[in-house]
Amino acid sequence: MYRKTYVEIDEKILESNVKDIITKYPDYQYYMGVVKNNCYHHGIKVVNNLIKAGINYLAVSSLEEAMDIRKYNEEIPILVLEPVSLEYIDDCINHNITIMIENLDYVLELAKIKLIGKLKVHLKIDSGMNRLGFKVRKEVKETYEILTNLKKIEVEGIFTHLATSGISDIYYDKQINTFQELVKDIDLNNIKIIHVDRSITFVSHQKLPFVNGVRLGIVMFGFSNSRPKSHGLRGAYQEFKRNLKIKKYHLSPAILENNLKLQTTFKMYSEILSIRKVKKDEVVGYSASYKVKEDGYILTIPCGYADGITKDFKYVAIKGKLLEIVADSMDMLMVFSDKKYKIGEKIEIFGDTISIRSVCKRLNINAYHLFNQIQNRVVRVYKNEDETIEIKY
Ligand SMILES: Cc1ncc(COP(=O)(O)O)c(C=O)c1O
Repeated sequence: MYRKTYVEIDEKILESNVKDIITKYPDYQYYMGVVKNNCYHHGIKVVNNLIKAGINYLAVSSLEEAMDIRKYNEEIPILVLEPVSLEYIDDCINHNITIMIENLDYVLELAKIKLIGKLKVHLKIDSGMNRLGFKVRKEVKETYEILTNLKKIEVEGIFTHLATSGISDIYYDKQINTFQELVKDIDLNNIKIIHVDRSITFVSHQKLPFVNGVRLGIVMFGFSNSRPKSHGLRGAYQEFKRNLKIKKYHLSPAILENNLKLQTTFKMYSEILSIRKVKKDEVVGYSASYKVKEDGYILTIPCGYADGITKDFKYVAIKGKLLEIVADSMDMLMVFSDKKYKIGEKIEIFGDTISIRSVCKRLNINAYHLFNQIQNRVVRVYKNEDETIEIKY
């Protein structure tokens, strides 16, 4: 690493998160790790930590992403969650990549192809999100019949993606019912993997009796979605409203709190690149946007909005002490300090002092967006028991 602005990932934390999830929710056979978007920007390397901890299937968005994972792991089955163009079916077969099937026309075309080997497919059901998947029961049946008659195709799985969590909405039960209705003509006992939940629906509902797989995403990266009971009048009012809804619409109960012991491990650091002494009333940054309030120092940090650090970031930390960001630019931040530090000292952008949750709150974004904001320009540093590895994706 030449420029010392990096995201630090502790591999042991990811492993312990996955182990904790599996220990507390042991009744599934397939724990699918959703590792799209460069493993939620933790970097593809971590797939092997997830696998070591018990993940036994992976899911990604595209064939590109699946092929990238193959550079790190050649064996684990990978499901591609978006339709794959039929011209690339040979690549899927050659690399043990499972495709999803979501419409009948695709199946009719697939049936005409002479496959070079065994192809695994998962049928996707649209339970109400209206993004991808079968919406007509007859088509599910027809698709299943066509596919099961093709020797080189294995209908290994069937799944849906839920649009809502069901914690405070009336759609969860509807979606589950829709799924069950659409797959009624298929004997689910003949299908190896049935997966419905994603992180939030998984932790906030009892296991559905007919599923044996779950797709885990953000929960592996430390976000348990546990909602500690709200206190005070507001909390009581929310609880009252929820209970009313549950009664009125006969909703299945949601689990608000879980006992997962998860940690986040996506910490961002930089260093002091330059220091200048400034006097009260001097100005700093583009457009002379900041006027110094008292004599002190401006610390220049090699980290800017090109690294995902937008104007809403207000502080950095050094040795547990918060310092105000007074000016920013594409590549550098300027921070005021009343104390002199040394060039090269470590700066926390977020981590132990400034938690990732507090950053999300201040930026008014969720963790998915924050992870995504810190793009590949920022080197990933992986810490393990006995080694530290830097990777520039
Ligand atoms: C089809 C599908 N399943 C599962 C997930 C994982 O979601 P989460 O990170 O909320 O668990 C995603 C994420 O985008 C998805 O698109």
